[in-house]
Amino acid sequence: MKRVRYSVGMSDEIVHLGASDFDACVAFLNRVFSEDGSLDFAAMLPTIYQPTEEHMGCHLAVRRGGDLAAVVGVFPMTLRMGEAALRLAGIGSVSVDPAHRGEGLMRLLMDRAMAEIRAGGFHLAWLAGQRQRYAYWGFERAGVRQRFTIEKRSLKHLDGATLGAGALEAWRAGGRWSAVDEDDDAWSAIADWRQRRPIRCDRGRDAIDATRWLRAHHHTPRVWLDGEDRPRALVVANESGQGVTEWGASDVDRELAGIAAWVEGGTDEHSAWFDADPLPGRTNRVFSAWADGTSRSDAGNWCVLDWPAVLSASLSARHAADPLPNGEASVQITGFTQAAVGLRIDGDHAQVAEVDGPTALAVDHHAAHRLLFGPVAPAFTADVPAAASALHAWCPLPLWLPRLDYV
Ligand SMILES: CC(C)(COP(=O)(O)OP(=O)(O)OC[C@H]1O[C@@H](n2cnc3c(N)ncnc32)[C@H](O)[C@@H]1OP(=O)(O)O)[C@@H](O)C(=O)NCCC(=O)NCCS
Repeated sequence: MKRVRYSVGMSDEIVHLGASDFDACVAFLNRVFSEDGSLDFAAMLPTIYQPTEEHMGCHLAVRRGGDLAAVVGVFPMTLRMGEAALRLAGIGSVSVDPAHRGEGLMRLLMDRAMAEIRAGGFHLAWLAGQRQRYAYWGFERAGVRQRFTIEKRSLKHLDGATLGAGALEAWRAGGRWSAVDEDDDAWSAIADWRQRRPIRCDRGRDAIDATRWLRAHHHTPRVWLDGEDRPRALVVANESGQGVTEWGASDVDRELAGIAAWVEGGTDEHSAWFDADPLPGRTNRVFSAWADGTSRSDAGNWCVLDWPAVLSASLSARHAADPLPNGEASVQITGFTQAAVGLRIDGDHAQVAEVDGPTALAVDHHAAHRLLFGPVAPAFTADVPAAASALHAWCPLPLWLPRLDYV
């Protein structure tokens, strides 16, 4: 059969999918991402793959001969950091039919996606994927993800000095783990516990939404019940049970007791890892004192579009979590985005504002992500002058997305 060779041009119409495209879109993604058909996007991302206009309308697509040839999803989210609510565009499901690869369809859809994101007033965009592939659209690996690994055998050394007396007592009081269904009484407690997380995405408050979110990427939510079957803590773990990406409780003692109980529940050779947010706080300090292993990596690919808004949210959240030393620094950002921002800590106040005139430091858009948000220290990205030396003490500023919100 003669294969028709297309080239990207005026004839390629980019459309937003609709509810009626649900089956075709999921089948297309399953095929493109797994040749053996082992992936099921509807099961993996039950929050995003729902047959409604709203959900499917997030997908940009090109059809060839009536069939889907390429898809890119742009999923609007609200990322809360302390008091601030940032509009985040998550990009996912970037896919081209193998029969149409190398013809520029991904570029066509990514160009459109970024144009829509800019026009839509998003503060920042995020995606998971190859660093160099997406650098062309302004993305850079940045942010901090801390992973703490705890071995079951280390529990016997755990004492009140490390865990805290209240947490140790709560753990020793015991309990049992139970899976949670959407009609479980635990859901309202779980929704309230989430409000305590300093960095989180909005996920709706009803139990069906909550169930979908906590099951994303093949995770399972479980609650730790006390002797009277009252929910005391939540742990959300991956399929093997070893990777814990989210947890919660009404206070830090119960949170830590739940974490110890989860490690205890594994086999003797078992170790569990916990992905933590990058803000200083008691849980992270306990992890740091207790974990058998600690690793730190970037938190995905980010593209900041509104520097004053994102830096203000991040600097304020960091300062609120644990006060930073007074100081100021100004940075000019050039290239994909342009901005000149001044950052200042003065007592209780964290301020970020656009500035006129010369700045202490100038970096390009990609370097600005690494300089300010890590994962490495600022000196690994730029020669930081004395006039901006406060950055050494303040950075990496927090930038992170919970694993269950990955798209
Ligand atoms: C990744 C995928 C979508 C690319 O499809 P494609 O048809 O080759 O896409 P295009 O023809 O538009 O080319 C895109 C390439 O141009 C590159 N590009 C974009 N702008 C560029 C520029 N200005 N200069 C040079 N290269 C550029 C992109 O980085 C990308 O490179 P890479 O795929 O080698 O990393 C396709 O291989 C696919 O569907 N793979 C399976 C699913 C998958 O892995 N998706 C990505 C999930 S993160």
